[in-house]
Amino acid sequence: MSIRGVEINIHGLGYRYSTRGNPTFTNLQLQSRRGEALAIIGRSGCGKSTLLHIIAGLNRPTEGVIEFDGKKVDGPSSRWVMMFQAPHLYPWMKVSQNVGVGLKFAGWPEKEKAERVAEALRLVELQDYAEVSVQDLSGGQQQRVALARSLVMEPELLLLDEPFSALDAFTRSSLQRDVRSIAKKLGFNLIIVTHDIDEAILMADRAVIMAGAPGKIVTEFEVPLPDPRQRQDPAVQAMRSRLMDAFHSAAGKPTGADAHGEEDVDTDSESVTQHA
Ligand SMILES: Nc1ncnc2c1ncn2[C@@H]1O[C@H](COP(=O)(O)OP(=O)(O)O)[C@@H](O)[C@H]1O
Ligand SMILES: [Mg+2]
Repeated sequence: MSIRGVEINIHGLGYRYSTRGNPTFTNLQLQSRRGEALAIIGRSGCGKSTLLHIIAGLNRPTEGVIEFDGKKVDGPSSRWVMMFQAPHLYPWMKVSQNVGVGLKFAGWPEKEKAERVAEALRLVELQDYAEVSVQDLSGGQQQRVALARSLVMEPELLLLDEPFSALDAFTRSSLQRDVRSIAKKLGFNLIIVTHDIDEAILMADRAVIMAGAPGKIVTEFEVPLPDPRQRQDPAVQAMRSRLMDAFHSAAGKPTGADAHGEEDVDTDSESVTQHA
């Protein structure tokens, strides 16, 4: 697969769900380098998913622009692919059919399609499951199928909206590690929305913290740690406390729209609750 990343420039972005209500965010600026893994961290309700949907071209911004390599994003494309918490597979299809579904719709010849699917299955380490029904797979394996289905499209950018939060801790950490290593190997960008600081540190080159109502990007951090990253590494733990401190001082106590969020920023070792 030949994939290159994309340079992302977001200027003056604003969004409101209704003309009369408060904006979800206004005048948001965000840049991402080619091939970068960027995490967006914030409490529930601060607008992370809304921002991700707009970046993916699924929602139109109320104001501002998003540019990929200097070109305005004005709709969905197979060059940027979104992964959700639920893998949304076709339950009656085998693994290989699920992975190849995008190529089938794009009219790829059978042989090229089969080669590309096999390559994607090797990347996610499901090469031995090609002929298995997806219903016989675990939740983590199903997410790997969803990942392979995204990879066959050779995306420049993979957008992840808390995609592993429904998985057990062991499965989650292997997917966090593998998604990062596949992105680095192939060169595409990642944007990971999460309320889990550990996930940001394990997966990202840079993390931005989003907070407030309307939401803002309040601070950002480079995460210059070597790979593979392990939760218990002292450097990872030091980064976690820096980010936690920054999160608390920058994000402050929940206000307005995010004051009644049922979840909060957390880590595996520590759950931070600051309900107003
Ligand atoms: N479809 C929608 N219609 C109206 N308001 C919405 C809709 N989706 C989200 N919101 C509101 O927009 C704000 C941001 O939501 P969201 O982007 O889902 O936040 P996050 O992903 O950070 O939890 C919240 O106050 C939420 O209630
Ligand atoms: Mg969300």
